[in-house]
Formats: sequence, C-alpha cells, structure tokens
Amino acid sequence: MAEKRNIFLVGPMGAGKSTIGRHLADELHLEFYDSDQEIERRTGADIAWVFDLEGEEGFRVREENVIEDLTEKQGIVLATGGGSIISKKNRNRLSARGIVVYLQTTIEKQVARTQRDKRRPLLQNGEPEQVLRSLADERNPMYEEVADYVVQTDDQSARAVANQIIEKI
Ligand code: S3P
Repeated sequence: MAEKRNIFLVGPMGAGKSTIGRHLADELHLEFYDSDQEIERRTGADIAWVFDLEGEEGFRVREENVIEDLTEKQGIVLATGGGSIISKKNRNRLSARGIVVYLQTTIEKQVARTQRDKRRPLLQNGEPEQVLRSLADERNPMYEEVADYVVQTDDQSARAVANQIIEKI
C-alpha cells in the first residue's frame, strides 16, 4: 500500500472480521474500527438492546450513519457488521473509500463460531444453521459485488489470514 488507504472487511457473522481486522491494523499500523462497537459506543447500549428497542430497521439506520462517518477517515481497518452490505448506500460508500475484502467461511464454521452467542439478535430468530443459510443465500452475491478481494478464513489462524490480505492488496 503506497499511501494510507482504508481496508474494509465484509462477510457474514462468524467469518472472523473483528479478530482478523485487529491483526491487520496492528501489522499495517492503521487504526482499527468495528461498526457494531461504534454503534454501541454511540448509543451506550449493546446491539441486542438496539434491536429490541428500535428493531432491525432502527439498527440499520444507525449502521449506515456509522459507516458513512467511519469511511470519511483515512488509514483505518474497518470490520463491518455482516448485514451492512444489504444497503446499496453502504456498498457504494465502502467501494468508493477503500479496499474491500470479503472474508468467506462455511456455514459449519459460522455455526461453530457463533454458538451460544446471545449478542447476535438475528441468530435468535430460528435455528442458527437455517438462519445463516438463508442470510447467505440472500447476501453472498452482495459480498461478491462489493469485494475487491475474497479471502477464505477457514483452517488458518487470524494472523495468517491477515498476512494473506497484506500480500494481496
Ligand atoms: C448482523 C451481524 C452482526 C451485527 C448484527 C446484525 C447481520 O455483526 O451487526 O447482529 O445482519 O448479519 P457481525 O457480522 O460482526 O456478527
């Protein structure tokens, strides 16, 4: 990376966006942000609360605002929420402002990584595997549309994935 650019990580829940993003930011001496954490910081409530009080619709408005603001920055690694790419506005914003890396994983890994997770409201909507499959059917084309690079995160450590991203970009 010749100049200070941004790296935006997209992909489904349990792909490892936050863990890999932290490694990436460390290695490249960039600042790390996580859109969910930023929503929590701004609202003073956790994501589950935001969903409870404002519904998914309210959460998506907050997510768009956070992505709009964070993508104004330069020299950051941003781990985005798994559903952020359903917004065309977010997809355009991410594409325009940085390098977008799609972290791919399998449903099996997602299930394993998000097991017993009560912080992800959408996983409380039904049997997690079914929920994740139906989200993947709907969203995978959008991750692909927005991605400059696609990296498989299974069977490698977060650090190894971060290094692979560094080699690609
Ligand atoms: C969501 C993913 C979550 C979080 C929220 C909704 C989604 O982020 O934004 O629970 O719609 O897939 P992670 O991808 O970091 O789990």
